Amino acid sequence: MNSPLANFTADHRTLLAAAAEAAGFADPIAFDPESLLYTLVGNAVRGRFVPLHGAFIRDWDTHGRRYWPGMQYGLRVYTLRGVTFVRAVLGEAANQPTAGYDVFVVDRKDYLKLYRIGLQLSRERTPAEPPVMTAAHRDTLWRNTVDFLAPDNLKRITGYGGRAKRGLLLTGPPGNGKTSACRWIRSEAAQRGWVAKSVTPDDYQAARRSCSPAAAVRELFDAGGRGVVFFDDLDIALRDRDAVKETDDQAVFLSALDGITVTEGVVYVFTTNCPVDLIDPAFRRPGRIDLTLHFPKPDADLRRQLVSRWHLELRTAVGVETVVANTAGMSFAEIDELKNLLVLRFLDSNEWDWAWAQEQFRENRDGLANRRADRTVGFAVSANGKH
Ligand SMILES: Nc1ncnc2c1ncn2[C@@H]1O[C@H](COP(=O)(O)OP(=O)(O)OP(=O)(O)O)[C@@H](O)[C@H]1O
Ligand SMILES: [Mg+2]
Repeated sequence: MNSPLANFTADHRTLLAAAAEAAGFADPIAFDPESLLYTLVGNAVRGRFVPLHGAFIRDWDTHGRRYWPGMQYGLRVYTLRGVTFVRAVLGEAANQPTAGYDVFVVDRKDYLKLYRIGLQLSRERTPAEPPVMTAAHRDTLWRNTVDFLAPDNLKRITGYGGRAKRGLLLTGPPGNGKTSACRWIRSEAAQRGWVAKSVTPDDYQAARRSCSPAAAVRELFDAGGRGVVFFDDLDIALRDRDAVKETDDQAVFLSALDGITVTEGVVYVFTTNCPVDLIDPAFRRPGRIDLTLHFPKPDADLRRQLVSRWHLELRTAVGVETVVANTAGMSFAEIDELKNLLVLRFLDSNEWDWAWAQEQFRENRDGLANRRADRTVGFAVSANGKH
């Protein structure tokens, strides 16, 4: 049968099979990213070109190079947060019902994951607010990330023989803004059209377990362009092996960090709530980590700034100074939880009951601590002798 439909279908099968071969997909699925196209392609790391049946036509269009794959005929491989996908393009196809083909292909096992990543990234395009921190602290973070990556600045740095690469370590006890700061910088980078890549502890573990760990870990550090790579909560790779008796071999991690060649300017941001003295000194040395920023629990002034972001009705009912005085020694996240309890109570009782919120907060926390103490580990036998 030689109907246009049969040809059309056969062409798509050919593209699907070629993409599967190029990227090693066991079960390829074609999709159209529609409104997520710019989000997917704009955030992905552009990989290699692959000819189609031995043929390849490059496209010299200099407009929109970030989104257009740079070819009229062939395949391009991309990776986005550890997921590989392929864009297959046949610019002009005579006697076909459409002007040409532009098909995205992903392995079935990653299909939903890629969709979710696309959705999540598209939500992140809304600008994030900086977390509460001192002006000096915020300035330092800004100068070492966004200002550092500004094209003019990088040109001057590299012109004088400086490095286009920077490493930042954000430390501090849980719930004081490390991840929030990353979210803010990520959104600023994304708005400038720079790469904003996140490497999760799972990504790292998967790379370590892969058949060529050194190459896979190196790949994690590859931003594929100007931008920021975030390693949030990567304690396992950062800890001092002698102090904590970790079995993880940091050599792979450290040599990947050293070995990466950066041409366009990259900032690596690592976060951990592991105390600084437990972090591998080899990791912290200049050239790997250029700056450590500590995120401590907030003092009265920072607590006041946090509360001043609360809804006016809450602030007026409870009083900013009362909250500031009653929350000494708490983390930002804990103060946030107090506010949350206050609001929930208001919805129930129509009253702003600060004393209740504090009491409930203590109860929840103590309850949690007790439950932790009671918790049996493993397959405990219950009182009636049953499992
Ligand atoms: N500096 C801050 N300003 C405003 N809100 C904050 C700040 N720090 C924490 N919070 C609140 O607490 C929540 C948790 O904070 P975040 O995830 O940034 O903590 P973290 O330092 O990364 O903690 P962890 O070490 O547990 O990963 C945030 O979503 C936010 O609501
Ligand atoms: Mg965090």
